[in-house]
Amino acid sequence: MKNILVIQGGGRPNGNTSQLAEAFINGAKQKGHRIEKISLQETEVKGCLGCNACRYGKPCVQKDGFNQLVPKIKAADLIVFASPLLFWTISSKIKAFIERFYAIAEEDPNPPFGRYEKYPVKDAALLMTSADDFFWTYEQAVSYYQFAIISYIGFHDKGMLLAGGCGDTNGKPQIDKTNHLVQAYEFGKNIYE
Ligand SMILES: Cc1cc2nc3c(=O)[nH]c(=O)nc-3n(C[C@H](O)[C@H](O)[C@H](O)COP(=O)(O)O)c2cc1C
Repeated sequence: MKNILVIQGGGRPNGNTSQLAEAFINGAKQKGHRIEKISLQETEVKGCLGCNACRYGKPCVQKDGFNQLVPKIKAADLIVFASPLLFWTISSKIKAFIERFYAIAEEDPNPPFGRYEKYPVKDAALLMTSADDFFWTYEQAVSYYQFAIISYIGFHDKGMLLAGGCGDTNGKPQIDKTNHLVQAYEFGKNIYE
């Protein structure tokens, strides 16, 4: 049994992204994992100000939703990032959430080349939806996920589900007309198999 924290960064209520995340959650629940989903539409997390107070032993000066998420981040085995593709990359809400990891980084006396501090070590997965479904559609989102979250922060990649062809937001969510919800359920069910 694993502790899974799903961070949903945007998307319409019951939209494509929300449905994708729920299908993943249902699959993971099938295997008895403990899951909590946080919507960054409801829990506001602002981007880092770069004030560096956290580097001098002080708590983050921003009193927003991130503080209540810190214990959840620390307790999680797996953090699942769920986002619609917005202007060819992850949502600004997911990006802001990642920026705030600055405040939970710890000093690393022996950092690996190119990293300056230590972050909590977690598993990670990426769930995304988009209107388009070209071979380049997710290039920037995947690049950010692999570069910043996996290579830099140092999370262990458990996989991605990139659900293209879900229709644009000028109409009803269309993910139910694709195979992505079945794939997300299987992804959640098998993530620790
Ligand atoms: C501001 C905005 C930007 C978007 N940018 C892209 C994009 O760059 N590429 C794409 O394929 N779809 C884009 N879309 C479409 C959404 O990614 C797609 O409809 C998604 O499934 C919406 O998720 P939701 O139903 O959870 O809201 C954009 C939608 C919005 C509102």
